[in-house]
Amino acid sequence: MNEIKFHTGENIPMELHKVRIVQKLHLIPVEERLEAINRSGFNTFKLNTREVFLDMLTDSGTNAMSDEQMSAMMRADDAYAGSQSFERLLEAVREVLGTGHFLPVHQGRAAENIICRVFLKNGSVVPTNYHFTTFQAHTLDKGGRIEELLYDDALKIDSDNPFKGNMNIEKLNACIVENGPENIPFIRMEASTNLIGGQPFSLANLRAVKEVAERFGILLVLDASLIGENAYLIKRREAKWKGAQIGEIIREMTSLADIVYFSARKLSSSRGGGICTNRRDLYLQMETLIPLYEGFLTYGGISTRELEAMAVGLRETLDETAISQSPRFIEFLVDELKKRGIPVVTPAGVLGCHIDAKAFCSHVPQSQYPAGALAAALFIASGVRGMERGTLSSVRDENGNDILADIELLRLAVPRRVFTLSQLKYVVDRVQWLWENRHLIGGLTFSYEPAVLRFFMGELKPLGDWPQQLAAKFRADFGESL
Ligand code: F0G
Repeated sequence: MNEIKFHTGENIPMELHKVRIVQKLHLIPVEERLEAINRSGFNTFKLNTREVFLDMLTDSGTNAMSDEQMSAMMRADDAYAGSQSFERLLEAVREVLGTGHFLPVHQGRAAENIICRVFLKNGSVVPTNYHFTTFQAHTLDKGGRIEELLYDDALKIDSDNPFKGNMNIEKLNACIVENGPENIPFIRMEASTNLIGGQPFSLANLRAVKEVAERFGILLVLDASLIGENAYLIKRREAKWKGAQIGEIIREMTSLADIVYFSARKLSSSRGGGICTNRRDLYLQMETLIPLYEGFLTYGGISTRELEAMAVGLRETLDETAISQSPRFIEFLVDELKKRGIPVVTPAGVLGCHIDAKAFCSHVPQSQYPAGALAAALFIASGVRGMERGTLSSVRDENGNDILADIELLRLAVPRRVFTLSQLKYVVDRVQWLWENRHLIGGLTFSYEPAVLRFFMGELKPLGDWPQQLAAKFRADFGESL
């Protein structure tokens, strides 16, 4: 049973788990929130969780673990080489992802580093449905570049396209012809395309990409960090797969790729990551780099406890009850915000609810980082920590100018089985308050800007005293004393 119907017809997502370990939360007063965001350089990455009420920064490493995972961790077989924990993980990978060879890595970006090191050279071009920040950083680091090949409406905020993550096949063909297949080491498809709002691709599209890849003799690499959720949405949205099991859909997806990699921090509610393939020649090319960058081949830089949790977590991905929880909560959040006229990415995707900061703060120019400003403003108004996914998360061009992001999003992540429905209602309430007071939100400018992945550790300052004004209005409306 994955859904429970209410006699009254009310459609609310039901928690199909019970809470057995809890962590106390604190909501600090608005003036302390203002102080905290100031101290953090208006960058939500730099907040301490002591200052955060609901942590919606990411689902990465923050999904709730199951009792089965916790108990599996107790039987971890600590061994540098030949650990039985690794054997159990390998078995789970073969069963869930259907790939014979497996290389463990400490997290998703480590897999990207290994893959880019082996296959990219200076001048390489990687066609992808859309970039992810860490993959882009590794590509640029190896002298390559990315071509994003989506259909036009994928970046349309309010849409009913069920598969915004689909790769544009005509553009893919043209890209290969233009750059020459010899300069394209692989095509990268990302499941539940993160930066456009956690949007899936269809299996029909993945098959079409595979056909093009085969025709030109190019490898297909699948980022499977969010494959379970993509499979769940395929089941819900692609007629052919309506009656299928999640596991069948996942294996169909992975069977089309030459290399599958993932961040287990998302995929299996654990830590770590991995690179999988059925091709021994590809496996051997990457194998030598694991001991160099990660650790021995039977632990890959993660503890054996985490290997055990990863194995169980991978199997739990096949359970529709587990995999559907976060997307259903996100759908609730998206529907509630949309009802109030607040601009959000539709259809509801996975990973989180994505607010359109360009429309929310239409008076803040993109050069003043509206999504970053909105993230800071929401923290002041609620203690909710979201993540900027816009121009701050982008890079500069060779002349030092910001490359303005295609879309400016504030992402409110909904990690698996972490929040309750009343907590989401609180989020809706505070976002609505902020929407009604959006004219008070102003822009930001960098005060410290690192050269690589600047959004992680960069610091900003507000243009004007808008954060104080916003906090004062909040105090006036909610009566929080100074
Ligand atoms: N690929 C995708 C699609 C991701 O979403 C992430 C991480 C990675 C690769 C990198 O994996 O963090 O284990 O090194 N996404 C996180 C997020 C950081 O918050 O969306 P990692």
